[in-house]
Amino acid sequence: MKAQYGQVVLVDGGGFFPELDDQQDAAWFLMDAMMILHTDAVGVSEKELRYGRAFLLAQQKRSKLPLTCANLWDKQTKKTLVAPYLLVKKGTATVGIFCVTSEKADLGVSRDSVTVEDPTAAATRTVAELRKKGATVVVLLSQLGKVESEDIVTAVDGIDAVIVGRNTPLLQKGRMIKTTVACYGGEQGQYIGRTLLTLDAKKKVATGDNETFILGPEVGENPSMLTLVKSFEDSFNDKQRKKEKERAAAAELNRANGGTGNSEQAVDHYLGGEICARCHKAEQEQWATTLHAQAWKTLVDAKKDANQDCIPCHVVGYKKPGGFQTGDDAAKLANVQCENCHGMGTQHEALPTQARRITEATCRGCHTAANSPNFNFATYLPHILHKPQGALKPLPPNPAKQKMLQGGH
Ligand code: HEC
Ligand code: HEC
Ligand code: HEC
Ligand code: HEC
Repeated sequence: MKAQYGQVVLVDGGGFFPELDDQQDAAWFLMDAMMILHTDAVGVSEKELRYGRAFLLAQQKRSKLPLTCANLWDKQTKKTLVAPYLLVKKGTATVGIFCVTSEKADLGVSRDSVTVEDPTAAATRTVAELRKKGATVVVLLSQLGKVESEDIVTAVDGIDAVIVGRNTPLLQKGRMIKTTVACYGGEQGQYIGRTLLTLDAKKKVATGDNETFILGPEVGENPSMLTLVKSFEDSFNDKQRKKEKERAAAAELNRANGGTGNSEQAVDHYLGGEICARCHKAEQEQWATTLHAQAWKTLVDAKKDANQDCIPCHVVGYKKPGGFQTGDDAAKLANVQCENCHGMGTQHEALPTQARRITEATCRGCHTAANSPNFNFATYLPHILHKPQGALKPLPPNPAKQKMLQGGH
């Protein structure tokens, strides 16, 4: 379509987060996929809030996906949760895009942090604001279902096109509702709708038409998308394999302890910091500048990287579940990483509401009197905090360094 038409705006109606709790990875994957397609605007409904407000906002920050919704309000900031509307310039057209979602939807875990405003009030206000800001075309991403979507474009003037979402049946040909072209795209992302709008001399919409196409095998492959799909599937398969192994190990342990051998209990374990970086990029980048990120190189340079007396404090989770077992694990688990201070990744709450405080005891496990005689929590801490600390005085040299270099077997 981009090759065929000059001024193409690509939108997604929203409601794309997965249905199941254990498919959370599909959420960030779809957001990355829509970025690869250069999607101009994406609607938000309560489905995108199913893993919590913080998860959605963190993923938006990371992926930079242009999310919009005019009637979801953040109770904390008293602003809309995401952009109330987006203005996209394409050639001679300025397209204003906004989304409204249903007041009746169950906000689940986000109900204490987000409220839903009356969609008609939000649409009336937003259309006026978009026209004032110079929008020549106005598109509504509606998460109201078929009947209410048709009602709202009848009640609110000035909406040129509506993408009808939330359990709506697929209609191959869209229809006109007063002066609005409606698109009924069906479910499961197997279809793409095309709304053609022709503009008059004043760049206002003159005529419109909609048709929906199934995405069959004749749609060519996109190399970046293939790479993304592969990396998603690899990590997904890895996780499944690991889960299988753990289930088997837990069952084995359970049998050894006289149980029935079918323990389904999840075993907590280390994951490695690469996973954390996916959602905590800023912390990861700061961590990479600290000496903790060099701790393995220190052992390699000293030719002590196979020495069991040295490894424990210079890697993640030595000889513990999921942790560093042998040199083969160095790529993933070498150095003092996130989990050395924050604990096993599998204990990460789905929706942490407040940071667990890290105390001196966390450091003292490694910064012992023998290996780190200068250690002082107050002076050492600023050197590892993730938030900028301004200019810091370098710490004095570690008097135990020579002893460590000579130590071990
Ligand atoms: C899928 C995304 C995701 C991944 C992966 C992830 N986190 Fe988080 N984490 C969050 C969100 C969302 C929050 C809460 C909001 C915030 O602080 O950004 C959070 C909060 C935290 C907090 C502060 C709250 C607390 O419990 O102390 C820490 C520390 C943290 N994460 C560490 C980690 C570590 C370590 C890893 C890797 C083992 C990790 N995270 C992996 C999403 C993620
Ligand atoms: C798993 C072990 C481990 C834990 C836990 C740990 N550290 Fe470290 N830390 C090290 C090692 C090993 C080094 C030396 C890295 C190198 O240079 O090879 C180090 C180095 C440092 C340095 C750099 C010292 C210098 O000479 O510049 C600071 C600062 C530091 N740690 C602070 C902390 C603080 C604060 C905590 C607790 C919040 C902490 N560390 C927890 C193992 C650990
Ligand atoms: C109990 C935990 C622990 C063990 C075991 C340990 N280290 Fe360390 N190592 C540390 C900590 C903590 C530091 C940072 C101390 C500081 O700067 O205050 C460190 C720092 C170092 C440094 C200095 C890095 C630099 O350039 O400043 C070297 C070299 C080193 N360790 C090598 C070794 C060797 C070799 C062994 C085995 C003989 C070993 N370590 C065993 C915790 C440990
Ligand atoms: C040496 C210990 C240490 C390491 C290693 C470490 N952190 Fe932290 N982290 C802290 C401390 C201390 C805080 C501040 C919380 C507090 O005051 O207790 C913190 C806070 C956080 C928070 C809460 C939000 C913030 O920025 O304050 C997140 C998220 C987080 N860390 C993620 C990570 C990730 C991801 C990594 C690995 C790339 C990592 N941390 C490595 C000590 C550590």
